[in-house]
Amino acid sequence: VEPLQQFINREQARFLAEVSEWLRIPSISSLPDHREDVARSAQFLAQHLETLGADKVEIWPTPGHPAVFATWKHAPGKPTVLVYGHHDVQPVDPLAQWTSPPFEATLRDGRLYARGSVDDKGQLFMHVKAIEALIHCLGRLPINVSMIVEGEEESGSENLMGLFHEHARELQADVVCVSDTDMFQPGLPSICIGMRGLAYFEIKVQTASGDLHSGTFGGAVPNATIVLSRILASLHDAQGRVSMDGFYDDVRPASAQERAEIRKLPFDSKVFREQSGAFVELGEAGFTTLERLWLRPSCDINGLSGGFQGAGAKTVIPNVASAKVSFRLVANQSPQRVEQLFRDHVARACPAGVQAEIMAFHSALPYHAPTQQPVFELARTALARAFGRPAVYVGEGGSIPFVREIGDATGKPCLLLGFGLPDGNSHAPNEWISIENFAKGIESLAYLYQDMGRIEVARS
Ligand code: BES
Ligand code: ZN
Repeated sequence: VEPLQQFINREQARFLAEVSEWLRIPSISSLPDHREDVARSAQFLAQHLETLGADKVEIWPTPGHPAVFATWKHAPGKPTVLVYGHHDVQPVDPLAQWTSPPFEATLRDGRLYARGSVDDKGQLFMHVKAIEALIHCLGRLPINVSMIVEGEEESGSENLMGLFHEHARELQADVVCVSDTDMFQPGLPSICIGMRGLAYFEIKVQTASGDLHSGTFGGAVPNATIVLSRILASLHDAQGRVSMDGFYDDVRPASAQERAEIRKLPFDSKVFREQSGAFVELGEAGFTTLERLWLRPSCDINGLSGGFQGAGAKTVIPNVASAKVSFRLVANQSPQRVEQLFRDHVARACPAGVQAEIMAFHSALPYHAPTQQPVFELARTALARAFGRPAVYVGEGGSIPFVREIGDATGKPCLLLGFGLPDGNSHAPNEWISIENFAKGIESLAYLYQDMGRIEVARS
């Protein structure tokens, strides 16, 4: 057996114990009550990195939550990898649906259950342990590593660009590596080569100064929940297309080759329904499920409120109603343009005299990987060696704002090497990471960094 593999397998229980301690900290970035916890999470990571021979470990404060930055730069003439991850997590509700408490990491059936186990503390920790394994087995790191771990990814990475500009020099690298995505299926190592972007809004409709009796006024005044329902219903047509004027103007049509590549993947409708728990597959006419997820934009209503919510009946005409509406975007759509289209659409769909207010949340641009760059071959080799199976290229319907931003800012390729699984429950109750993927992921990253160490770069 490889010394690296041997070390990683031997130390597995300790690695899991260490990450479990980090997972105890409820670093929920979107909830103000957890501000201190996000700060503690950053400190925990920073302290851990101190013990691993980093030459620099810093906590970078922001107007929101802090990021952790660390470097190991002991390999002159060798490439520099910038590792990105996030130490913040999603809220845990509905709490009652968790089998074990979200912040008490629990081993069950070959899985480690906890909020953040796969998204993203567990996956970031795999890089940390790959670094440790290389230092242990080779006596030194064969490449230079910079690591940035932000605390605001789950709430939109609002301050990350600010950190980029402030620390542009320190963030220079030859390649960026991120583990915050999924493998296509168990045992099948996957490199994500495309992510969708995001444009997210809240819409509030107001029709009167207060609620009204539906007998006294029904039929003679507008009802906010009806107005909002009509606006929302007008966002899609019967073919499952987004029926906002101009929405598809910037969508780059999928090439025959892209579609052929996707058709080669072992997609199984039954497995998809099991993993998602959805009763049926449904989406834009003329496209397969994977095409809908990876190559086509989408629009969802993420939340809806208005009117009487209590038990029983109340004859009332609600005067306000609101909804959270988001769009997943593909190349070459932009969140700014989609915002304008959404505003125009709502303005047209809203009856005269009714107030509709739109507020924009965070957004992200879509990303496409430059797969012609040689690091992609290196990554395939490393993954194949650890998993004993050739790696596949996959897409991802979700978003990581950082990936496109750093790509644009540095011009360097970003390797998305994810070790989650599609039914890993990220953002949901009972989030988990596979113990096997945890070990093989560490191994893959160690091999990748070792192989990168054979490359000479022309910089000091
Ligand atoms: N780890 C996810 C990205 C992801 C989503 C990977 C789905 C694999 C499958 C990331 O933490 C995330 O949830 N991103 C947000 C971004 C948003 C808050 C800007 C998303 O996609 O909703
Ligand atoms: Zn994530």
